[in-house]
Amino acid sequence: MNYQWYPGHMTKAVRAMQEQLKLIDLVIELVDARIPFSSRNPDIDQLGKGKYRILVLNKADLADASATRAWKSHYEMMGLHVLELNAKKPDLLKTLKPMVLEVCADKIERDRKRGIKNRPIRAMVCGIPNVGKSTFINSIVRKSIAKTGNRPGVTRANQWIRTDAGIELLDTPGILWPKFEDQVVGRNLAFIGSMNDEILIPEELATDFLMEMERLYPGALASYYKVQEEENAADLLRSIAIARGCIKKGEEPDLEKASNLIMEDFRMARPGRFTMEKADHD
Ligand code: G4P
Repeated sequence: MNYQWYPGHMTKAVRAMQEQLKLIDLVIELVDARIPFSSRNPDIDQLGKGKYRILVLNKADLADASATRAWKSHYEMMGLHVLELNAKKPDLLKTLKPMVLEVCADKIERDRKRGIKNRPIRAMVCGIPNVGKSTFINSIVRKSIAKTGNRPGVTRANQWIRTDAGIELLDTPGILWPKFEDQVVGRNLAFIGSMNDEILIPEELATDFLMEMERLYPGALASYYKVQEEENAADLLRSIAIARGCIKKGEEPDLEKASNLIMEDFRMARPGRFTMEKADHD
Protein backbone atom coordinates (compact mmCIF):
# COMPACT_ATOMS: atom_id res chain seq x y z
CA MET A 1 0.00 0.00 0.00
CA ASN A 2 1.21 3.46 -0.81
CA TYR A 3 1.07 5.69 2.28
CA GLN A 4 0.47 9.02 0.65
CA TRP A 5 -1.27 12.14 1.70
CA TYR A 6 -1.48 15.51 0.09
CA PRO A 7 -2.40 18.08 2.70
CA GLY A 8 -2.33 21.09 0.39
CA HIS A 9 -1.91 24.67 1.60
CA MET A 10 1.56 23.83 2.81
CA THR A 11 3.17 27.03 1.68
CA LYS A 12 0.33 29.00 3.20
CA ALA A 13 0.83 27.26 6.55
CA VAL A 14 4.58 27.87 6.53
CA ARG A 15 4.05 31.54 5.69
CA ALA A 16 1.51 31.92 8.50
CA MET A 17 3.96 30.37 10.88
CA GLN A 18 6.80 32.65 9.78
CA GLU A 19 4.56 35.64 10.57
CA GLN A 20 3.70 34.25 14.00
CA LEU A 21 7.30 33.46 14.77
CA LYS A 22 8.20 37.13 14.56
CA LEU A 23 6.09 37.69 17.65
CA ILE A 24 7.53 35.12 19.96
CA ASP A 25 10.57 34.19 22.06
CA LEU A 26 9.90 30.50 22.55
CA VAL A 27 8.75 27.68 20.29
CA ILE A 28 7.06 24.78 22.06
CA GLU A 29 7.06 21.96 19.55
CA LEU A 30 4.82 18.97 20.19
CA VAL A 31 5.45 15.52 18.78
CA ASP A 32 3.73 12.19 19.42
CA ALA A 33 5.84 10.13 21.83
CA ARG A 34 4.83 6.91 20.00
CA ILE A 35 6.56 8.09 16.82
CA PRO A 36 8.87 10.92 17.91
CA PHE A 37 10.69 11.07 14.60
CA SER A 38 7.84 10.62 12.11
CA SER A 39 5.55 13.09 13.87
CA ARG A 40 8.11 15.85 13.59
CA ASN A 41 8.61 18.25 10.74
CA PRO A 42 12.33 19.01 10.53
CA ASP A 43 11.58 22.38 8.88
CA ILE A 44 10.97 23.68 12.37
CA ASP A 45 14.72 23.66 12.99
CA GLN A 46 15.12 26.22 10.21
CA LEU A 47 11.91 28.12 11.00
CA GLY A 48 12.70 28.34 14.69
CA LYS A 49 16.30 29.53 14.31
CA GLY A 50 17.17 32.14 16.90
CA LYS A 51 14.21 31.22 19.14
CA TYR A 52 14.26 29.37 22.41
CA ARG A 53 13.02 25.84 21.90
CA ILE A 54 11.24 23.17 23.90
CA LEU A 55 10.35 19.82 22.39
CA VAL A 56 7.39 18.08 24.01
CA LEU A 57 7.08 14.30 23.73
CA ASN A 58 3.33 14.38 24.12
CA LYS A 59 0.98 11.43 24.65
CA ALA A 60 3.77 9.90 26.72
CA ASP A 61 0.99 8.09 28.60
CA LEU A 62 0.45 5.97 25.46
CA ALA A 63 4.12 5.34 24.67
CA ASP A 64 6.70 2.87 25.94
CA ALA A 65 8.35 4.60 28.91
CA SER A 66 11.86 3.30 28.23
CA ALA A 67 11.65 4.30 24.57
CA THR A 68 10.50 7.77 25.65
CA ARG A 69 13.56 8.08 27.86
CA ALA A 70 15.78 7.08 24.94
CA TRP A 71 14.11 9.63 22.65
CA LYS A 72 14.48 12.29 25.32
CA SER A 73 18.25 11.72 25.42
CA HIS A 74 18.37 11.63 21.64
CA TYR A 75 16.78 15.05 21.27
CA GLU A 76 18.74 16.46 24.20
CA MET A 77 21.90 15.44 22.41
CA MET A 78 20.66 17.52 19.51
CA GLY A 79 20.59 20.52 21.85
CA LEU A 80 16.85 20.66 22.54
CA HIS A 81 15.17 20.89 25.92
CA VAL A 82 12.76 17.99 26.13
CA LEU A 83 9.64 17.45 28.21
CA GLU A 84 7.62 14.24 28.46
CA LEU A 85 3.96 15.04 28.78
CA ASN A 86 0.37 13.93 28.87
CA ALA A 87 -1.40 17.10 27.76
CA LYS A 88 -4.69 15.77 29.12
CA LYS A 89 -3.38 15.93 32.67
CA PRO A 90 -4.09 18.99 34.78
CA ASP A 91 -1.38 21.32 36.00
CA LEU A 92 0.42 21.56 32.70
CA LEU A 93 1.77 24.97 33.63
CA LYS A 94 3.35 23.65 36.79
CA THR A 95 5.33 21.15 34.69
CA LEU A 96 6.13 23.65 31.97
CA LYS A 97 7.18 26.64 34.04
CA PRO A 98 10.51 25.40 35.44
CA MET A 99 11.65 24.37 31.98
CA VAL A 100 10.65 27.70 30.44
CA LEU A 101 12.60 29.53 33.13
CA GLU A 102 15.62 27.33 32.48
CA VAL A 103 15.46 27.60 28.69
CA CYS A 104 14.95 31.36 28.68
CA ALA A 105 17.31 32.09 31.60
CA ASP A 106 19.61 34.39 29.62
CA LYS A 107 16.71 36.54 28.36
CA ILE A 108 15.33 36.83 31.87
CA GLU A 109 18.80 37.79 33.13
CA ARG A 110 19.27 40.34 30.32
CA ASP A 111 15.92 41.92 31.17
CA ARG A 112 16.84 42.01 34.84
CA LYS A 113 20.13 43.79 34.12
CA ARG A 114 18.25 46.37 32.09
CA GLY A 115 15.84 46.91 34.94
CA ILE A 116 12.94 45.32 33.10
CA LYS A 117 10.87 43.30 35.50
CA ASN A 118 8.31 40.61 34.72
CA ARG A 119 8.41 40.90 30.97
CA PRO A 120 6.58 37.73 29.93
CA ILE A 121 8.08 35.06 27.72
CA ARG A 122 6.01 34.85 24.57
CA ALA A 123 5.51 31.34 23.37
CA MET A 124 3.89 29.51 20.51
CA VAL A 125 2.81 25.89 20.37
CA CYS A 126 3.38 24.12 17.09
CA GLY A 127 3.39 20.68 15.55
CA ILE A 128 1.77 18.47 12.95
CA PRO A 129 -1.99 17.77 13.18
CA ASN A 130 -3.26 15.55 15.99
CA VAL A 131 -0.24 15.71 18.32
CA GLY A 132 -2.26 17.49 21.01
CA LYS A 133 -1.70 21.20 20.35
CA SER A 134 -5.30 22.24 21.11
CA THR A 135 -5.43 20.03 24.18
CA PHE A 136 -2.23 21.66 25.43
CA ILE A 137 -3.44 25.21 24.75
CA ASN A 138 -6.91 24.56 26.19
CA SER A 139 -5.45 23.22 29.37
CA ILE A 140 -3.44 26.40 29.79
CA VAL A 141 -6.42 28.63 28.90
CA ARG A 142 -8.49 26.98 31.61
CA LYS A 143 -5.76 27.69 34.15
CA SER A 144 -5.06 31.21 33.09
CA ILE A 145 -6.28 34.34 34.78
CA ALA A 146 -7.11 36.37 31.75
CA LYS A 147 -6.78 36.72 28.05
CA THR A 148 -5.18 39.87 26.81
CA GLY A 149 -6.82 41.41 23.80
CA ASN A 150 -5.31 42.45 20.51
CA ARG A 151 -2.32 44.70 20.68
CA PRO A 152 -0.64 46.94 18.19
CA GLY A 153 1.70 44.91 16.08
CA VAL A 154 -0.13 41.71 16.79
CA THR A 155 -2.13 40.10 14.02
CA ARG A 156 -5.79 40.56 14.77
CA ALA A 157 -6.50 36.84 14.65
CA ASN A 158 -3.97 36.13 17.36
CA GLN A 159 -4.79 36.37 21.00
CA TRP A 160 -2.36 36.02 23.83
CA ILE A 161 -3.17 33.85 26.76
CA ARG A 162 -1.60 35.42 29.79
CA THR A 163 -0.61 32.96 32.48
CA ASP A 164 0.53 33.49 36.04
CA ALA A 165 3.74 31.64 35.21
CA GLY A 166 5.37 34.54 33.37
CA ILE A 167 4.45 33.05 30.02
CA GLU A 168 2.17 34.43 27.34
CA LEU A 169 0.96 31.84 24.92
CA LEU A 170 -0.33 32.50 21.44
CA ASP A 171 -3.81 30.97 21.32
CA THR A 172 -3.49 29.69 17.77
CA PRO A 173 -1.06 26.84 17.24
CA GLY A 174 1.42 26.74 14.40
CA ILE A 175 0.56 23.87 12.11
CA LEU A 176 3.37 22.02 10.44
CA TRP A 177 2.98 19.18 7.98
CA PRO A 178 4.62 15.81 8.29
CA LYS A 179 7.25 14.84 5.78
CA PHE A 180 5.46 12.37 3.58
CA GLU A 181 8.26 11.78 1.11
CA ASP A 182 9.33 8.89 3.29
CA GLN A 183 6.96 5.89 3.16
CA VAL A 184 8.00 4.79 6.64
CA VAL A 185 6.93 8.15 8.02
CA GLY A 186 3.55 7.83 6.27
CA ARG A 187 3.12 4.32 7.57
CA ASN A 188 3.93 5.33 11.16
CA LEU A 189 1.46 8.20 10.99
CA ALA A 190 -1.15 5.76 9.69
CA PHE A 191 -0.48 3.46 12.67
CA ILE A 192 -1.29 6.15 15.22
CA GLY A 193 -4.33 7.31 13.23
CA SER A 194 -2.92 10.58 11.97
CA MET A 195 -3.64 9.77 8.38
CA ASN A 196 -7.15 9.65 7.06
CA ASP A 197 -8.11 6.00 7.60
CA GLU A 198 -10.54 6.20 4.67
CA ILE A 199 -7.71 6.27 2.18
CA LEU A 200 -6.10 3.19 3.71
CA ILE A 201 -6.87 -0.49 3.25
CA PRO A 202 -7.52 -1.83 6.77
CA GLU A 203 -6.05 -5.29 6.24
CA GLU A 204 -2.86 -3.94 4.71
CA LEU A 205 -2.47 -1.39 7.47
CA ALA A 206 -3.01 -4.00 10.19
CA THR A 207 -0.67 -6.48 8.49
CA ASP A 208 2.08 -3.84 8.26
CA PHE A 209 1.42 -2.96 11.89
CA LEU A 210 1.59 -6.59 13.06
CA MET A 211 4.82 -7.05 11.17
CA GLU A 212 6.38 -3.97 12.71
CA MET A 213 5.18 -4.97 16.17
CA GLU A 214 6.75 -8.39 15.73
CA ARG A 215 10.05 -6.70 14.99
CA LEU A 216 9.87 -4.26 17.90
CA TYR A 217 7.92 -6.20 20.53
CA PRO A 218 8.01 -9.87 19.52
CA GLY A 219 5.16 -11.93 20.92
CA ALA A 220 3.47 -9.00 22.68
CA LEU A 221 0.29 -9.00 20.59
CA ALA A 222 -0.03 -12.77 20.41
CA SER A 223 0.10 -12.76 24.18
CA TYR A 224 -2.46 -9.94 24.52
CA TYR A 225 -4.94 -11.55 22.13
CA LYS A 226 -4.21 -14.99 23.59
CA VAL A 227 -3.30 -16.57 20.28
CA GLN A 228 -0.32 -18.60 19.15
CA GLU A 229 2.68 -16.76 17.79
CA GLU A 230 2.73 -17.03 14.02
CA GLU A 231 5.50 -16.88 11.46
CA ASN A 232 3.82 -14.23 9.40
CA ALA A 233 1.54 -11.28 10.01
CA ALA A 234 -1.30 -12.51 7.76
CA ASP A 235 -1.63 -15.69 9.85
CA LEU A 236 -1.51 -13.70 13.06
CA LEU A 237 -4.29 -11.43 11.77
CA ARG A 238 -6.41 -14.50 10.98
CA SER A 239 -5.82 -15.97 14.43
CA ILE A 240 -6.74 -12.70 16.12
CA ALA A 241 -9.91 -12.44 14.01
CA ILE A 242 -10.98 -15.92 15.13
CA ALA A 243 -10.00 -15.33 18.77
CA ARG A 244 -12.01 -12.11 18.83
CA GLY A 245 -15.06 -13.61 17.12
CA CYS A 246 -14.67 -11.53 13.98
CA ILE A 247 -16.37 -14.04 11.70
CA LYS A 248 -18.29 -13.44 8.50
CA LYS A 249 -21.29 -15.43 7.35
CA GLY A 250 -20.01 -18.80 6.24
CA GLU A 251 -17.44 -19.05 9.07
CA GLU A 252 -14.78 -17.02 7.23
CA PRO A 253 -12.72 -14.75 9.48
CA ASP A 254 -13.68 -11.11 9.01
CA LEU A 255 -10.20 -9.70 8.48
CA GLU A 256 -11.34 -6.13 7.93
CA LYS A 257 -13.20 -6.05 11.22
CA ALA A 258 -10.25 -7.62 13.04
CA SER A 259 -7.88 -5.11 11.41
CA ASN A 260 -9.92 -2.16 12.62
CA LEU A 261 -10.12 -3.66 16.08
CA ILE A 262 -6.34 -4.19 16.26
CA MET A 263 -5.59 -0.61 15.19
CA GLU A 264 -8.13 0.81 17.64
CA ASP A 265 -6.73 -1.28 20.49
CA PHE A 266 -3.21 -0.05 19.72
CA ARG A 267 -4.30 3.60 19.49
CA MET A 268 -5.95 3.30 22.91
CA ALA A 269 -2.84 1.49 24.26
CA ARG A 270 -5.04 -1.42 25.37
CA PRO A 271 -2.45 -4.12 24.65
CA GLY A 272 0.24 -2.02 26.34
CA ARG A 273 2.30 1.07 25.67
CA PHE A 274 4.33 0.75 22.49
CA THR A 275 6.63 3.12 20.62
CA MET A 276 6.83 2.40 16.92
CA GLU A 277 10.29 3.77 16.19
CA LYS A 278 13.60 3.50 17.91
CA ALA A 279 15.75 6.41 18.94
CA ASP A 280 18.72 5.43 16.79
CA HIS A 281 17.37 7.52 13.93
CA ASP A 282 19.35 10.44 12.70
P1 G4P B 1 -4.03 18.98 17.55
O1 G4P B 1 -4.58 20.26 18.09
O2 G4P B 1 -2.55 18.93 17.57
O3 G4P B 1 -4.57 18.61 16.19
O4 G4P B 1 -4.48 17.79 18.54
P2 G4P B 1 -5.65 17.75 19.62
O5 G4P B 1 -5.34 18.61 20.79
O6 G4P B 1 -6.95 17.95 18.93
O7 G4P B 1 -5.53 16.22 20.12
C1 G4P B 1 -5.79 15.13 19.28
C2 G4P B 1 -6.28 13.96 20.11
O8 G4P B 1 -5.25 13.53 21.00
C3 G4P B 1 -7.48 14.27 21.00
O9 G4P B 1 -8.24 13.07 21.10
C4 G4P B 1 -6.85 14.55 22.36
O10 G4P B 1 -7.74 14.33 23.43
C5 G4P B 1 -5.73 13.53 22.35
N1 G4P B 1 -4.59 13.91 23.21
C6 G4P B 1 -3.91 15.08 23.22
N2 G4P B 1 -2.88 15.04 24.08
C7 G4P B 1 -2.89 13.79 24.62
C8 G4P B 1 -2.06 13.11 25.58
O11 G4P B 1 -1.05 13.63 26.08
N3 G4P B 1 -2.42 11.83 25.88
C9 G4P B 1 -3.48 11.20 25.32
N4 G4P B 1 -3.74 9.95 25.70
N5 G4P B 1 -4.28 11.81 24.42
C10 G4P B 1 -3.99 13.08 24.08
P3 G4P B 1 -9.62 12.92 20.38
O12 G4P B 1 -10.02 11.50 20.56
O13 G4P B 1 -9.51 13.45 19.00
O14 G4P B 1 -10.53 13.88 21.17
P4 G4P B 1 -11.17 13.69 22.64
O15 G4P B 1 -12.22 12.64 22.43
O16 G4P B 1 -10.09 13.23 23.57
O17 G4P B 1 -11.68 15.02 22.95
